[in-house]
Amino acid sequence: MVDIPSHVPPELVADVDIYDIQSIDPDIHVAWKKLQDNSASLIYSPRNGGHWIPMRAHVIERVLSDNKAFISGGAWVPPNPPGALPLIPIQSDGDLHRAYRSLIMPYVIGKPLKSAIDSARKLAVELIEGFQGRGHCDFATDFAQHLPIQIFLDIVELPAGDRIFLSELAEVVRMPDPEVRMEAYGKMNAYIAEHVDRRIANPGDDMISRIANGQVLGRPMTRDEIIGECAQVLVGGLDTVASMMGFIAAHLAVNVPLRQRLCAEPELIEKRVDEIIRRFGVAGPARQAAMDVELDGIQVKAGDPVFVATALHGLDDQRWTNSMVVDLDRSATGTDFQTFGSGPHRCPGAALARSEIILFLEEWLKRIPDFSLVPEKPMVAASGSVTGVLSLPLQWTV
Ligand code: HEM
Repeated sequence: MVDIPSHVPPELVADVDIYDIQSIDPDIHVAWKKLQDNSASLIYSPRNGGHWIPMRAHVIERVLSDNKAFISGGAWVPPNPPGALPLIPIQSDGDLHRAYRSLIMPYVIGKPLKSAIDSARKLAVELIEGFQGRGHCDFATDFAQHLPIQIFLDIVELPAGDRIFLSELAEVVRMPDPEVRMEAYGKMNAYIAEHVDRRIANPGDDMISRIANGQVLGRPMTRDEIIGECAQVLVGGLDTVASMMGFIAAHLAVNVPLRQRLCAEPELIEKRVDEIIRRFGVAGPARQAAMDVELDGIQVKAGDPVFVATALHGLDDQRWTNSMVVDLDRSATGTDFQTFGSGPHRCPGAALARSEIILFLEEWLKRIPDFSLVPEKPMVAASGSVTGVLSLPLQWTV
């Protein structure tokens, strides 16, 4: 734990470990909600190098949208060691950030999105039909983790045989120790570098080829930038989607009327998917104050790190009536909630992720409309810069 900086009022200090939120409650969203209900709108944790946590929707919106006062370059909780390769575009700002993003966007919308979703849908059906007759599965490892990896492999044109290796790499987002995290990134970067070199020599139409041969601000991307950007697309898209599917499946397993309504009115899946996504934020991006700034009346000093638990936005009763309830008659839209962030870093994969959640619900509920948790094998979830569902045993009658 760090010493509390002198500008932090003692009443705002809370001993919160973002890598162990489940110590407050095993249900991570309930844990964040309990903390929110008992906290000021901004708190300071002395853990993980010391950082602020905005607790309320309006403070989260300010931090994510004010990219002059809160920058992304170099920001992480706890901070990466000096000299670490930045993740791109998430740890960059300004014109360079915009240039980096433009290399990704063509692959996560339109035709490439549709073709990736078609192939993921095929895999989803195969997986579900593979275990449907068994009456049980581990939703996380038998199903959810496979879909985003398939999509990533399609977009970057990497071999399907790398799936298991890639799912292990995704754990990097929950490693609090900067040295251990850097070692994991080292492995990932070595894997990516090998493919980058091949695509530089032999470019195709895939995303890695485009990034590897891309130009930013009138110059070619450096090798470090290429690797940092491919790594970000990898970690950005794998664990986030799989975890959100896990939280949704666990919720549906115990909320029978909600599940029955989605089965009876399947058109609500697409119509209300944003309300479902609103309730299950998983990402925790970081920022650093670029200047002394007043945040909701509280003094934040230049250099202070900020951890933004996006889940807290969707859980805030001051913003959403009965925030814990997935209300299929409420129409949250992508600009109301912050599960995908907002401002210049808003998730470029949001449309893709949204389509993945829709296809999961459509294909799963059609085949396994009734399912429940396994009482003796509870869900295993972990918190960090992405909240993950590591294991979710489910059962149904066959
Ligand atoms: C349910 C799934 C997902 C959630 C909840 C999610 C959430 C987020 C959030 C909150 C941010 C903003 C970070 C910030 O403000 O610093 C972000 C950025 C990002 N996401 Fe996602 N994401 C998801 C899926 C995906 C997918 C499928 C991809 C793959 C293309 C992806 C790639 C990225 C990238 C590259 C960034 C960095 C954007 C930038 O810095 O400009 N994400 N995501």
